[in-house]
Amino acid sequence: MVKFPRNFLWGAATSAYQVEGNNVNSDWWQWENKTGKVKSGPACRHYEFYERDFDLAKSLHHNAHRFSIEWSRIEPKEGKFSKEALRHYIDVILALRRRNIEPIVTLHHFTNPVWFSKSGGWVKRRSVVRFLRYCDFLTRSLAKYVHYWITINEPTIYISHAYIFGIWPPQAKSYLKATQVEENLVSAHIKAYRLMHKIYKELNLCEPSISIAQNVMAFVPSNRDLKNRFTAYLRDRLYNLGFLERIMRHNIMRHKILDFIGVNYYTRQLVELRKFRIGNLAMDVCNDKRHHCEKNSLGWDIYPEGLYEVLLELKIYDLPIMITENGICTSDDNLRWKYIYSHLKNIHRAMRKGVHVTGYLYWSLMDNFEWDKGFTPRFGLIDINYSTYKRTVRKSARQFSQVCKTGVLE
Ligand code: FCB
Repeated sequence: MVKFPRNFLWGAATSAYQVEGNNVNSDWWQWENKTGKVKSGPACRHYEFYERDFDLAKSLHHNAHRFSIEWSRIEPKEGKFSKEALRHYIDVILALRRRNIEPIVTLHHFTNPVWFSKSGGWVKRRSVVRFLRYCDFLTRSLAKYVHYWITINEPTIYISHAYIFGIWPPQAKSYLKATQVEENLVSAHIKAYRLMHKIYKELNLCEPSISIAQNVMAFVPSNRDLKNRFTAYLRDRLYNLGFLERIMRHNIMRHKILDFIGVNYYTRQLVELRKFRIGNLAMDVCNDKRHHCEKNSLGWDIYPEGLYEVLLELKIYDLPIMITENGICTSDDNLRWKYIYSHLKNIHRAMRKGVHVTGYLYWSLMDNFEWDKGFTPRFGLIDINYSTYKRTVRKSARQFSQVCKTGVLE
């Protein structure tokens, strides 16, 4: 039996585009319609049904909930902020507060307003000023209701999928653009962090807690070969720590730049280098079936001990850590509980080694629109019937709710 601290945050995460539905002013919406990809359409209709969804979260003893604000709703035209959309998100936050659920608000979760993308998106230097204007507006409007913020979700995934692999909009395949986007996202976070802290001070509110959500993976060499161990080490530095390191460089003279570290962890990568070339160093994986391990329905390896390893590594930054995403898509709900259970065990193991973990947010509260993969992957604690929009709480959600309620994992 293991016991988590009393003030631990327990809950689940979602993102606006994946659950709300009809985000017609977003660049993803435009892209889906242009490319004929799976359409997000009404998604889970969470924009209408959020109260009911939060009732379910409450019944599952969640005391925290991470969600994102859709920039394209708040600022559908450049510089023109929608009062109606703002009112909606205030209502969302108040709905959480009424249920004693702590809101954790993400400002950017992969999607952008159409006008922003049309004029060059994150490649352009002025993207930073634009993002700051949006942050300024939201922080002034929401500061009195919100303590925890995530500025940018998974910058490394966003950069690689949208600007290197060309899978997500704007489907670029350019290292040059990827570098510019990285530069701008680093700067966007740093400036937003400072601006938001300044606004809280001006408003005489106690300091907020602000971070990014950094995706991390366990990079595991497929055997003891030096070349594989070296490549795994390199990828860990690059993909897990690269963006954080860039931000931390600004953490000088005690000017903090992160109040905690948001960690999204799902899987491992088995590293096996075939050739000493840049592309291979960055991408080669081992496909040998002998390294069998259980997988989610997208074929990602289930590797809970990797979370322990990564958490220990992050200890060097000496900051609290919040697990802002961890979850599994599967049609086997017993496997979902096993996944949650084994990851929580490893989090606790890391805590016993001195890692300060403050919360765990399962991805996701409900099944939702999984980007280019559509609606097939089922990550939810709650099942969604996409014909009737009926919500059904899964058994794994109830098992997890016992941990949320008691803080004890048997
Ligand atoms: C993460 C994303 C989230 C969701 C999960 C499965 O990379 O942040 O939106 O798609 O993966």
